[in-house]
Parts: sequence; structure tokens; C-alpha cells
Amino acid sequence: ARITFVQPDGNRQVFDSGEDETVMLVGVRHNVAHLPADCGGQLACASCMVDVPEAWRDRVGPPGLDEGDMIEDALGSRPPGRRLSCQIAVSEALDGLEVLLPERQG
Ligand code: FES
Repeated sequence: ARITFVQPDGNRQVFDSGEDETVMLVGVRHNVAHLPADCGGQLACASCMVDVPEAWRDRVGPPGLDEGDMIEDALGSRPPGRRLSCQIAVSEALDGLEVLLPERQG
């Protein structure tokens, strides 16, 4: 599936996912900025946050329980569409997905 990463300054990068990749892995594999993903996808760092545009939220789905708690711990709130990108498995259903990188990670 083709995933677009949008930087805070509007810069866009488009990449194809490999097999069984998460959005985080696609971005890290291409050294996308503002995506440190320090824990490597272990749901332990909250430094892989992305904002999912409203048009995609139904297809991407809401954060899982632990994921939502981690986002709240990091930000003090749960902004709509905010996800940990290591918890978004890419499938063909997400072909064309755009995610926005936040200025600051948790
Ligand atoms: Fe650490 Fe996603 S990479 S929580």
C-alpha cells in the first residue's frame, strides 16, 4: 500500500509499504523526520505519533486501550485522530493513506 507522510512544514513523502509493515516501519525505513520511534514498535515510547486525517479515521480505527493511555500520558489529552504509528498495520485497505507528523513527539 502507498503511504504519504506529511511533515509539519507541509513537505510530503510517498512510500510503498513492504509485507506486514506498520506505518511506523515504513517511515523509519525511509528516515522520515519527526518519527524517532525510539522503542522500535514495542508500545513503550510514544515517539511514533501521527495524526490521521478525518477522512481516514474510520478505516484506520481508534487507538487500542494501552495505546490510548500512552497518548494521554504523553500529551495530557487524546486528540482525535492521534495514533501511535507502530500500532497501525498497513493493509491494502489503507492504500493511499496520509498521516501527519506532529512537531513534537511524546
Ligand atoms: Fe515506540 Fe511506537 S515505536 S510506541
